[in-house]
Amino acid sequence: MSQLHVIDHPMIQHKLTIMRDKETGSKDFRELLKEISLLMGYEVTRDIPLEELEIETPICRMKAKRVSGRKLAIVPILRAGMGMVEGLLNLVPVARVGHIGLYRDETTHQPVEYYCKLPEDIHDRMVIVTDPMLATGGSAVDALTLLKKRGCTNIRLMCLVAVPEGIAKVQAAHPDVDIYVAAVDDHLNENAYIVPGLGDAGDRIFGTK
Ligand code: PRP
Ligand code: URA
Repeated sequence: MSQLHVIDHPMIQHKLTIMRDKETGSKDFRELLKEISLLMGYEVTRDIPLEELEIETPICRMKAKRVSGRKLAIVPILRAGMGMVEGLLNLVPVARVGHIGLYRDETTHQPVEYYCKLPEDIHDRMVIVTDPMLATGGSAVDALTLLKKRGCTNIRLMCLVAVPEGIAKVQAAHPDVDIYVAAVDDHLNENAYIVPGLGDAGDRIFGTK
């Protein structure tokens, strides 16, 4: 069964509070999202595979460990998921990056796919799907389904803010995918926006409204 990991470290809560504030502009919003993504990345990659190598310290030879980073792929759901990529790449610079373009239809709130470009060997990699907002869960469910059709078997979903209904929808459709969030908010409003949430993440990142 999929596990929900709420990464509510005090520094993450502090940064998220600033992001939620409607007075926070795009520049600060982007920087904070990047910083939180890096911090969340520690937990999301906690069980990432290591490989052993022999090195020489100034004192002696030793068997040491390093991350086998070629095995990781980061897949943002466009647009807003892009805001979480740089922080994760700071953590694992050799990770590959794929892109899945989905937008929510404004009336039906159903996701519409418009782009998909993934690393050729995506099926061999541990995949971290990024999207700051897990609202109805429709976009995340579709992105995960698409990755599974490409043969992915080791996927985790990293979001910033989620609501219980979105989490439940992903867990029902993809019980093998662990979900990492910084906060679980209260509910969705009549426009399927997260309450209290932080508004439209894509618009706040890119300054489009
Ligand atoms: C937002 C967000 C998620 C989706 C979440 O994207 O970034 O992808 O909505 O909603 P859901 O859980 O109900 O599917 P949006 O459709 O606004 O597109 P954008 O990132 O291009 O702004
Ligand atoms: N997408 C967003 O960007 N924000 C929400 O609250 C819900 C979906």
